[in-house]
Formats: sequence, structure tokens, C-alpha cells
Amino acid sequence: MFLKLMGIRDGRLRFIRAHVEDAQRALAAMDQNSLKNFAIFSKPVTLDDERRYLERMEKSHVDHVYLIEHLDDGRLLGSIGLHELDEINRSARLGCMIYHPDDRGKGHGSHAIKLMLRAAFTRLDLHKIYVQILANHGGRALDWWQRLGFTVEGTMREEYFLNDAWRDMLRLSILRREWEAPAK
Ligand SMILES: CC(C)(COP(=O)(O)OP(=O)(O)OC[C@H]1O[C@@H](n2cnc3c(N)ncnc32)[C@H](O)[C@@H]1OP(=O)(O)O)[C@@H](O)C(=O)NCCC(=O)NCCS
Repeated sequence: MFLKLMGIRDGRLRFIRAHVEDAQRALAAMDQNSLKNFAIFSKPVTLDDERRYLERMEKSHVDHVYLIEHLDDGRLLGSIGLHELDEINRSARLGCMIYHPDDRGKGHGSHAIKLMLRAAFTRLDLHKIYVQILANHGGRALDWWQRLGFTVEGTMREEYFLNDAWRDMLRLSILRREWEAPAK
């Protein structure tokens, strides 16, 4: 499966498969304080934690995690992955993280997601990609995913344990035919 996703790049970004050896580089690029919406960052992530995570991802057949590298200067911008890959139903959950606030809001996340959607629908022949966002994120994140072509499927009640409380999540998805449809 990884072979089918090799070499994803365009003029600005490239995806490289995340290996355990990348743990230090990834951790150094991350601003953990600005990633508190992820339960995993509720306490500081250590090098060992990051190594264990990447090792688990490398061994997994249902997770495909890539680092997003800026082609201009080789800087690590973040990571993007397909998770919960279901080969029977041809679906996967998309996750994306831009590591540092200085790099956010510059179009890198949208750009990387568009590249990944293209690869998922054309190279992997998937039918559906979904994302899960905190329901209390409010309109900004929701608008953004909708602008990327995703549609709300529903609320996942008390799905995520963050800051000592259960949080509802929204699940959004995009189908291949929606991705293929010309922009309105
Ligand atoms: C969400 C994220 C991947 C977007 O990448 P990005 O490069 O900043 O996004 P772009 O520059 O392409 O687009 C900017 C849009 O991101 C949207 N956005 C979505 N979720 C956001 C978030 N949690 N924090 C900030 N902006 C977010 C904003 O609405 C913004 O649109 P606007 O400027 O019109 O309001 C990135 O900001 C990030 O990693 N944030 C922190 C981690 C996170 O919450 N990830 C959840 C996604 S699974």
C-alpha cells in the first residue's frame, strides 16, 4: 500500500513516509503547546513517546503517516496520515497537523490535504475519506473542512477524552464522486 503512495509532491510540498528515525526531527519542529486540542499533547510528548508512536505507525497496516516537507528549504511543516484504512469498504480517516503556529494559516494544510485526497482517491482507489473534529471547535474549523469539500455526517457523542472531560466530535466526509465533481 505504501508503494502506491510513494513520491507524493508538487511544486511546494512533498510527503515522506514517517519512520522511527524521524522522531527527533518531528519533535523539534513541533510546538506542543499549540496542539492541545489533541489529547496526546495534554502532557509533554517525549522523544521516547514519539519514537513509540512512529514505530507503531510503521508496523501498522491500517495507518499511513507522512511528514510534510517544504520543498524550498527542506523544513518539516507537519504530518498527514490516512488511518483506519478499510480495504473492504475503501475508506480511511484523514488526519493532518501543521506543527508550528508560524506555519499555519499559510495554505500548507489545505494544500497537503488536497494532495492526499487526490492520492487516496486515484492511487488507492478509495471511496470515502472522513475526518473527526471537536464539535466545540465552532464555525472556523467546520467552515474550513466544508470549503475543502467535506460534509457533516453527524455527532459522535463523548468520543474524545480531552482535559479531563468527554468531548463530542463531528464526523465529516467526502466521497470520491464529490471530490471529482467540478467546483460550483
Ligand atoms: C488545522 C490545520 C491542519 C490547518 O492547516 P493550515 O495550514 O493552518 O490551514 P490553511 O492555511 O490551509 O487554512 C487556514 C484555515 O485553517 C482553518 N482551521 C481549521 N482548523 C483549525 C485549527 N484547529 N486552528 C486554526 N485554524 C484552523 C482556519 O479556519 C483557517 O481558515 P481561515 O483563515 O479562513 O479562518 C492546522 O492549522 C493545524 O495543524 N492546527 C492545529 C492542529 C489541529 O487542530 N488539527 C486538527 C485537524 S485534524
